Amino acid sequence: MSTYTRLPVTFERGEGPWLWDTTGKKYLDALSGVAVCGLGHAHPAVAEALCQQARRLVHTSNIYGIAKQQTLAERLTLLSGMERAFFCNSGAEANEAAIKLARLYGHNKGIATPTIVVAENSFHGRTLATLTATGNRKTQAGFEPLVSGFLRVAYNDLEALQTIAKNSTEVVAVLLEPVQGEGGVNVPDDDYLAGVRAVCDQYGWLMMLDEVQTGMGRTGRWFAYQHTSIVPDVITLAKGLANGVPIGACLARGEAAHTFKPGNHATTFGGNPLACSAALAVLDTIESGNLPARAAELGARMTARLRDKLIPGDGTERKLVNAIRGKGLMIGIELDRPCGELVGQALQQGLLINVTAERVIRLLPPLILSDQQADQIVDTVVELVIAFARTAGV
Ligand SMILES: Cc1ncc(COP(=O)(O)O)c(C=O)c1O
Repeated sequence: MSTYTRLPVTFERGEGPWLWDTTGKKYLDALSGVAVCGLGHAHPAVAEALCQQARRLVHTSNIYGIAKQQTLAERLTLLSGMERAFFCNSGAEANEAAIKLARLYGHNKGIATPTIVVAENSFHGRTLATLTATGNRKTQAGFEPLVSGFLRVAYNDLEALQTIAKNSTEVVAVLLEPVQGEGGVNVPDDDYLAGVRAVCDQYGWLMMLDEVQTGMGRTGRWFAYQHTSIVPDVITLAKGLANGVPIGACLARGEAAHTFKPGNHATTFGGNPLACSAALAVLDTIESGNLPARAAELGARMTARLRDKLIPGDGTERKLVNAIRGKGLMIGIELDRPCGELVGQALQQGLLINVTAERVIRLLPPLILSDQQADQIVDTVVELVIAFARTAGV
């Protein structure tokens, strides 16, 4: 179906941060399949794990024990400070699990219409409940009636959250991205998550963080909330968890970890041996390469170089760039006007980038970049922005 506006390119091979299209042209990937292939393409450890597992056992069912799912759950909960895991196949499904969990948690407390607070400009997926949670009218348009049981609040606005807390007795949880991805790489104030935690504690709400895009080392820590001293009650993961093999996870601790009982939630494919073997290889590789720290280092290098070249000069480009922001290897360059055409122009230059929220160039490169490759991405982006400024007559 015509659900995508596809770029005129088809890739047939990848290696590390490089991709080759069907004509043999080589590209540097600064998008990683939208924050998925954090270890780059065709990573040997993941490929080997998949081949070995495929020869042994691909799928049984969650009716039976799955040793690798158990191991993956133990490792992820240890890394995240959570206690239990539910595995599924995508970010939307991970958030659906969190939403259902929050509703059940509410009903268990005697709340008749459990309500979840979500943020403006958020993105949580395309299923009906996650689409409703998503704070973008354009994405929702045409799919009404949406799901009830959500309240929307401005992101990074603690006062707005407190106002809701004072006025609603039906709220059971907050669902937020620790850094908004699709919404424009929006980084909240340093004390925002701690403030949300305090409100959740005061009112007995679950604090649920959507780490689908920010998780797995991308922001410079295993999980983005680990930049702060708080721990949420629920986190959701997908994207980078198995480097391109579909998987999602909803992790929880405390009461939230024990809310689902047998029969409350399930999936056919979720957490099957094949996907879990890929995820375990990803965890090993992130751990042995100390990749969250490397993401922090590369992100600092890239944003410093971008700022150096795009912000302080007296050149025309200065007026075009509103802000350069991000955390680790989640980088946004906000221009003062829509700039979607930069994606095609970058492609011609052999670079994969993305533009989100119409005017934010988004970079989500793999965590295994060399310094030189990171510089090459920045230099090409800078050239494109300067050329864009010239044609825009800025
Ligand atoms: C923060 C966040 N949550 C959820 C999703 C949905 O994930 P999926 O496309 O795997 O359903 C995305 C996808 O971009 C995302 O960025």
